[in-house]
Amino acid sequence: MPEPIFKVENLVKWFPVKRTIMDILKRREKLYVRAVDGVSFDIKKGEIFALVGESGSGKTTTGKLLIRLETPTSGRIIYKNQWNLAAMTETELKPFRRELQIVWQDPYGALNPKMTVKEILEEPLLFLTDLDGEQRLEKIIEIMREVNLVPVEEFLHKYPLELSGGQRQRVVTAKALIVDPNFLVADEPVSMVDVSMRAAILGILERARRKRGVTILYITHDLATAGYIADRIAVMYLGKIFEIGPAKRVLLEPLNPYSKALISATPVPDPTVKRERIILKGEIPSPIFIPSGCRFWPRCPWAMDICRKKEPPMVQVEKDRWVYCWLFGEEAR
Ligand SMILES: Nc1ncnc2c1ncn2[C@@H]1O[C@H](COP(=O)(O)OP(=O)(O)OP(=O)(O)O)[C@@H](O)[C@H]1O
Ligand SMILES: [Mg+2]
Repeated sequence: MPEPIFKVENLVKWFPVKRTIMDILKRREKLYVRAVDGVSFDIKKGEIFALVGESGSGKTTTGKLLIRLETPTSGRIIYKNQWNLAAMTETELKPFRRELQIVWQDPYGALNPKMTVKEILEEPLLFLTDLDGEQRLEKIIEIMREVNLVPVEEFLHKYPLELSGGQRQRVVTAKALIVDPNFLVADEPVSMVDVSMRAAILGILERARRKRGVTILYITHDLATAGYIADRIAVMYLGKIFEIGPAKRVLLEPLNPYSKALISATPVPDPTVKRERIILKGEIPSPIFIPSGCRFWPRCPWAMDICRKKEPPMVQVEKDRWVYCWLFGEEAR
């Protein structure tokens, strides 16, 4: 069993909500968006770990916390069994900046329209390495070939606006990989490209894992690509992880009612497979006013009395499979 590259313990990120003058005058209590509300998980060295969940469930915030682009409210982020990144200052984090990279969710926003592909790819090398001009150019050419931006001479001096969506996504990916990271957060890397391009981009990530040994946190709301590329999947809902397990197992046989509902809503590639669609009551509650007990109870078809009152435990149901649900808790049986 490979050792964990990350061990995340009870990680929390609450964003304070700005109070209005009326709030202050009326002494209304300070409110928080509980974006990440106590998550614990490991990411093993060399694996592709998918974080799936609906919009607003806290996926991007979790990814940004891990590589310390956000400061946690509390909790521990143990990196390589040795360093607690959660407790580090900006200066202490400096030596880790090159190793921990992100492919941003929005390839349009992530690229400076005034910079050429060469300038875009050179920037991280200037900031994070001490390579000279010629070595930088070698790196740029190498990575452009790796992500298939070829012929290199043709793309080197292009601006983002002159590129297709898929090519832009390749540049964003290359920009993260060019500094040889150990760990990559790939935040919805294929959500903006068409199906044919999707396979190509996922192929780049897989190759980066295989050839460079990069560990990847793959963030998506798309269960199909998660099942295709990931070794393990964690399902997130309103700032909590509801289930963790091997990707295929979770997709074929989800255990938590929320994962069941989420997975039942995705199309099955094989139309002969019959699957019951689980329709949930209501909408996702606001992350400011999170229901007590199990936060999913107001929408859960199987909610019991205890679910309203007490937060469920994270129960290990088999080797490498964890479920956060009272249906699996000892007390409820
Ligand atoms: N800087 C911030 N300040 C205040 N609230 C924030 C901030 N960043 C995120 N949030 C809130 O935290 C919650 C989780 O956001 P996050 O971006 O992590 O979700 P997500 O799962 O990545 O969603 P999506 O699938 O839409 O990208 C949301 O309610 C969001 O509005
Ligand atoms: Mg996001």
